Amino acid sequence: MSGPNNEYDPVQVTPLGAAEVEAMRDDALAAIAAASDLDALKHVRTEHAGDRSPLGLANREIGALPPAARKEVGARVGQARGAVNQAIAARQAELDTEAEERMLAEETVDVTLPWDRTPRGARHPITTGSERIADVFVAMGWEVAEGPLVEAEWLNFDALNLGPNHPARTMQDTFWTEPAENAIVLRTHTSPVQARTMLTREPPIYVVCPGRVFRTDEYDATHSPMFHQVEGLVVDEGITMAQLKGSLDHFAQAMFGEGIVTRFRPSYFPFTEPSAEVDLVCFVCRGQQPTMASCRTCRGEGWIEWGGCGVVNPRVLTACGVDASKYTGFAFGMGIDRTLMFRHGIADLRSFFEGDVRFTTAFGSEI
Ligand code: PHE
Repeated sequence: MSGPNNEYDPVQVTPLGAAEVEAMRDDALAAIAAASDLDALKHVRTEHAGDRSPLGLANREIGALPPAARKEVGARVGQARGAVNQAIAARQAELDTEAEERMLAEETVDVTLPWDRTPRGARHPITTGSERIADVFVAMGWEVAEGPLVEAEWLNFDALNLGPNHPARTMQDTFWTEPAENAIVLRTHTSPVQARTMLTREPPIYVVCPGRVFRTDEYDATHSPMFHQVEGLVVDEGITMAQLKGSLDHFAQAMFGEGIVTRFRPSYFPFTEPSAEVDLVCFVCRGQQPTMASCRTCRGEGWIEWGGCGVVNPRVLTACGVDASKYTGFAFGMGIDRTLMFRHGIADLRSFFEGDVRFTTAFGSEI
C-alpha cells in the first residue's frame, strides 16, 4: 500500500498551475464582459462557472490532490471562482438594469398623442327606456309580457271588442298584410298582448308589455308609422279604477320625478269601460300659476296628454276566457317614444329612428 504522496508539488501539475487557473479566470472574465444580454450571460455562466466549466473541473480535482497541495491550489481556484462569480453577478445587475431601461423606453406612452378614436357604441334610448319602464312595474311584482309584431286581426281587434264593423277600428289606421283573407295585420297597439296573456294565463294577472306598433301615420316630428307603446294589464279580484290611478301616479313619478301626478279625462276605448285619457301634470311648469300661463311645453294647460286607460271591458274578459263575474281588471297604454321625448326634452320623434349615432351616444353608456 503506498503512503501519501508528500513529495507532490502542485506547481508542477499542469491544469492547476497558477498560470492555468489565471487563464481560466481571465477567459471567464472576458466572456462575461462580452456577454451582451441576459441570454448570453446565462450561457457564459454554464460555460465558465458551471460544474463542467474549466474552473468547476479544477475545483473537483482539488480533492484528488495530496493534502499538502490542497490548501494552496484550493485557495487559488477558490479565488478565481469567487472573482468569476462576482463578475457574473455584477454583469447580471448591469444587464438587468439595461433591460429594464430598455423596456421603460420601449413601452413609454405619449399621453399627448391622439387616442384611439374608434367611436364607442351605445344602446338605443328606446331600448334602455323600455327597460327602465318595465323595471318600474317589475319592482311592484308585475311580469313583462311580449307578443308578435305581425298579429292576427282577431287578437288585434275582435278580442278587444272591436268587431269588423266597429267604428273605432278607424281610430287606428292599419297596415294589412296580403292576401287580405289571411286576416293578419301589423299590430296597431300593444293591446293584443293583453288578449294573448288572458288567453294563456289564469288571474291574478299583472303584466307590462312594451313593444313596437304600426299605423299608417304620417312621418313627422310627432308621428311615425312605427312607434312604441307600453301596455299595462291587471286582472284580479276586486280591481277598480283606484288601483289604476295609483299605479299610473307611481309610474309617472318614477319617470318624471316626485310630484308629477296624473289626471283622468273621460274618453272611449272599446276594450275598456269606463275609459279615460291620462294626463300628466306638466313637468316643466308643474301646473303652477303664474309660470303655467307662459309655459311652452303645456301651452298654459298645466297638463300634458300621456296615454289611454280604463277598466277592462267585461266583454274582453269573456272573449279571452276570463270569468267576468269573478274578476275585474284595468289596462293602460302609453307611447314609449312620447314618454322619452318628455323625459329627455327630445323635440322631434324622428330623432329616434334616423340612426344618427350622435343622438344615440348622447344617452351615454346608460344600461
Ligand atoms: N291601445 C290603446 C291605443 O293604442 C291605448 C289603451 C290601452 C287604452 C289600454 C286603454 C287601455 O290607443
